Amino acid sequence: MAEAASLLAPDAVVRTFADTSWGDDGATREVEDIVESGHVLAFPRLAFALADSERRFLDPRWADPAAKNVSLRWPAGELRGAAGAAAELDDLRRMVVRYAEMSETLALRLFPHYRGHLRRGNTSFRPTDVAGRIRSWRQDDTRLHVDAFPSNPMQGTRLLRVFCNVNPSGVPRRWRVGESFEAHARRYLGSIGRPWPGSAWLLATLGITKRRRTGYDHLMLQLHDRAKADAGFQSASPQQRVDFAPGTTWVCFSDQVLHAAMGGQHMLEQTFYLGAGDLAHPASAPLAILERLTGRALLD
Ligand SMILES: [Fe+2]
Repeated sequence: MAEAASLLAPDAVVRTFADTSWGDDGATREVEDIVESGHVLAFPRLAFALADSERRFLDPRWADPAAKNVSLRWPAGELRGAAGAAAELDDLRRMVVRYAEMSETLALRLFPHYRGHLRRGNTSFRPTDVAGRIRSWRQDDTRLHVDAFPSNPMQGTRLLRVFCNVNPSGVPRRWRVGESFEAHARRYLGSIGRPWPGSAWLLATLGITKRRRTGYDHLMLQLHDRAKADAGFQSASPQQRVDFAPGTTWVCFSDQVLHAAMGGQHMLEQTFYLGAGDLAHPASAPLAILERLTGRALLD
């Protein structure tokens, strides 16, 4: 029988704030220390308001069945993965653009240190149920993991994400969160070998990766895969269930916080990129932690 998971203290990962405004008048600001130390910042009173005419978009029919979600690609802001008539998709796009802009305003208030450095990544709208998606174990986001992608090496760049549950019928977004990044790295680092010499060059040359997979990316991908493949870790490691009710916004570095999406439907998500050197505390980054633990430079 699987060992029972040890529960993390209620505020070990998630810190809650009472803000009700996305704008510059909101209460919480200059909280770089909190997000960089691996916390999730939750705002249960910070809803993303939909116009009455936008409520029709809370329906899986707007997502192209071949795509995982509806997304906007920046800087052009073109809409991908959506199905519908052109005029309707214009309205859908406007809603997602508004979320991108409000998320950016919020992020720059919470983390003014990042101004001038934060780059807007994809904005996605997920009207489909988490539970309904069938995937391989590697793509199964109901398993605890840190974000890392085989084809998209980050080369140390951070992934900051702003999520909002816009479910209209009271359904929470259910997550699990887990141990600290450093504890997680220590758990697996000793068993991770180095990549084959020349493999990073080959993957980039063949177009399998968008850019070179550095030593950092190799380790991040291995951590992602080891965790998801380890049933004992999934069931028995220190963790906590977190329900994000509709109307809740939450923010974290998803390349640092151990997380799993267990259920929910209708969510908006904004990704930002930030250079590891542009953090208030670069020593808190996964890159710095992994370089310290391995004793070698990982961006070569
Ligand atoms: Fe993830």
